[in-house]
Amino acid sequence: MKIVITGGAGFIGSQLALALQDKHEILVIDKMRNEEKFSNGNLKSLGHFKNLLGFKGELFVGDINEPCVFEKIEDFKAEVIFHQAAISDTTADDENLILRTNLNSFKNFIDLSIKLKAKLIYASSASVYGDAASPQIVGKDETPKNPYAFSKLMMDHLAFKYSQKLDIVGLRYFNVYGKGEFFKGKTASMILQFGLQILSGQNPRLFEGSEKIFRDFVYIKDVINANLKALEVKSGVYNVATSIPRSFQDIVDILQTGLGTTLSCEYIKNPYAKAYQFHTQADLSSWVGLYEPQFSLEEGIKDYISEIKRIHEKEVNA
Ligand SMILES: NC(=O)c1ccc[n+]([C@@H]2O[C@H](COP(=O)([O-])OP(=O)(O)OC[C@H]3O[C@@H](n4cnc5c(N)ncnc54)[C@H](O)[C@@H]3O)[C@@H](O)[C@H]2O)c1
Repeated sequence: MKIVITGGAGFIGSQLALALQDKHEILVIDKMRNEEKFSNGNLKSLGHFKNLLGFKGELFVGDINEPCVFEKIEDFKAEVIFHQAAISDTTADDENLILRTNLNSFKNFIDLSIKLKAKLIYASSASVYGDAASPQIVGKDETPKNPYAFSKLMMDHLAFKYSQKLDIVGLRYFNVYGKGEFFKGKTASMILQFGLQILSGQNPRLFEGSEKIFRDFVYIKDVINANLKALEVKSGVYNVATSIPRSFQDIVDILQTGLGTTLSCEYIKNPYAKAYQFHTQADLSSWVGLYEPQFSLEEGIKDYISEIKRIHEKEVNA
């Protein structure tokens, strides 16, 4: 198949491109990083060439806010579009840029997919649920707490509006961790951040009450699998997670066991407490058994730990 992956130099997009390239013709679209930063100090786009080392398909560097990207995809005659490109920073507050990039451009992807008769599989987010009670169910209690989350909910609404006109599947990823996330910097998962702290001999720094803050952490290999399953499901929005909530304290404890350390933890005040998700646990029933997560937090960290060590040695201390 001819497959386009937007955001293909980012975390999830790059892993998807590498996983699919042997069987399909892949075109990756990404803006790549430059010097531009948000007021929170984070980069505006996070794509990094190192995520695509080993990629044998075609890369087109472009901004999804610009027409050249859509001309390129049309020329390529995409049959499937995995749309991962977005401002992915949940703490950014430039509403105008976030909504233009994540939402307005999405309408262009919908229009182009209709024209090409392509299936559109796009990244939504568990952040749309805000602090809704667990389990989080698609269509229930969606109260986003930040501009990023709001942009994703608006994308889901738009997808629903057009779901009679094309095959369109939204994947609400919960907290994803695994290979390919290092270049997200401060927005990388806490699994990686704690792992690197421990390997540097630092005391892991957690928010106060971390043993009571639960998230549904999902490993990148399960996320890739969910994207593949999305090729088979009917139009709709689906949660992508494990449905087993785990605490931030669990992460540190599992990492310390895996790395053979017994560092004591430091507890700091949570600066995001007003707009924070304290308990997430996905309802996965809409998949009707088609997607079954394979990795518990223990299994995901076990699979990831050699990569965390490599990052520490080759990227952090290079
Ligand atoms: N990682 C998670 O835990 C998680 C959770 C929920 C949803 N998501 C969503 O999944 C998708 C992928 O997330 P990720 O973690 O890989 O993030 P990421 O930031 O690593 O990847 C996004 C990619 O999009 C590119 N991009 C940004 N703005 C662009 C633009 N204007 N034009 C073209 N490319 C642009 C970036 O360069 C980057 O490579 C995003 O849509 C994100 O919102 C991720």
